[in-house]
Amino acid sequence: AYGHNSASGLSPVPFYRPRRLRRTPALRRLTAETRVSAANLVQPLFLREGLKEPREISSMPGVYQHTRDTLRKAAVEAVDKGVGALMLFGIPEHKDPQGSGAVDPDGILQTALRDVSEEVGDATVVIGDINLDEYTDHGHTGVLDADGDVDNDASIELYAQAALVQAEAGAQVVAPSGMMDGQVRRIREALDAAGHQSVAILGYSAKYASHYYGPFRDAVESTLTGDRKGYQQYPGNIRESLREVDLDLAEGADMVMVKPALAYLDILSMIAGHVDVPVAAYQVSGEYSMIEAAAAKGWIDRDNVIRESLTSIHRAGASQIITYWAAEFADSLDR
Ligand code: PBG
Repeated sequence: AYGHNSASGLSPVPFYRPRRLRRTPALRRLTAETRVSAANLVQPLFLREGLKEPREISSMPGVYQHTRDTLRKAAVEAVDKGVGALMLFGIPEHKDPQGSGAVDPDGILQTALRDVSEEVGDATVVIGDINLDEYTDHGHTGVLDADGDVDNDASIELYAQAALVQAEAGAQVVAPSGMMDGQVRRIREALDAAGHQSVAILGYSAKYASHYYGPFRDAVESTLTGDRKGYQQYPGNIRESLREVDLDLAEGADMVMVKPALAYLDILSMIAGHVDVPVAAYQVSGEYSMIEAAAAKGWIDRDNVIRESLTSIHRAGASQIITYWAAEFADSLDR
């Protein structure tokens, strides 16, 4: 048979031996096709308005809502460990129906962007999340119309204003995550009209209505009672992701993202083969917490499962990975 030296009539002996290249750590290192590097990792960080002490997020052990002071320290630490970018989120003290904290030049995320840019701006890439859900008292990612539905076109006007205040505060990249139609185009127009042509847009292009975001809702103290199925994608759909990515690119996105990561590697792989821009993946809060929880029980080997999950996301085609383990994992890599 193919690959077997069975002409002698004795029991077949393998002729092809793939194990030769797996024999030693040095051979395995030489032949590795995929290797995550620190520069590809993006560290999300949360700044909570009005905090006196950093507060650990109950469903995300090891991840904190920061004070202004500890945010600066966390940013410096992540950059020292070599991470490629920081993605900042703000949690306001007060929420309202319009999500006005998102467009306030002195809002909490703008404060975070200013502080972090001042501290480490040249040494890394500072990314701002554009959305209203942390700022609205109803928890939706946009403003509501008279019927209580998310008003797409009114919401993207607010995203455009949020992009401007974030750019003014030092964001080098803005990442609209609200899944409103036309959001990338409206943000690009607003940035360009205000002279921010060089601020890049990372589109959350293929963002699914996922239950893996659960712990993040604790992280940002979300007040959402319903769900986001009216604007985020149905988990069983594939072609819709191509459509969303194509639209975001036509509207001016510089990079695109698939989110979540591990349960959507087929989508990631497809998108990576489809576009000619960098493709990012977001290893979301639920992915983080599941591994941490199982590891805390002693059921899995934490560090090796983290490594395997990140390697798999990279193998599937993500050139940038947003992960809550970014700084820790970067630190564990040889430089
Ligand atoms: C929206 C946003 C969400 C996440 C990132 N940006 C929540 C949502 O869309 O419901 C989820 C990230 C995670 O779960 O880690 N501001």
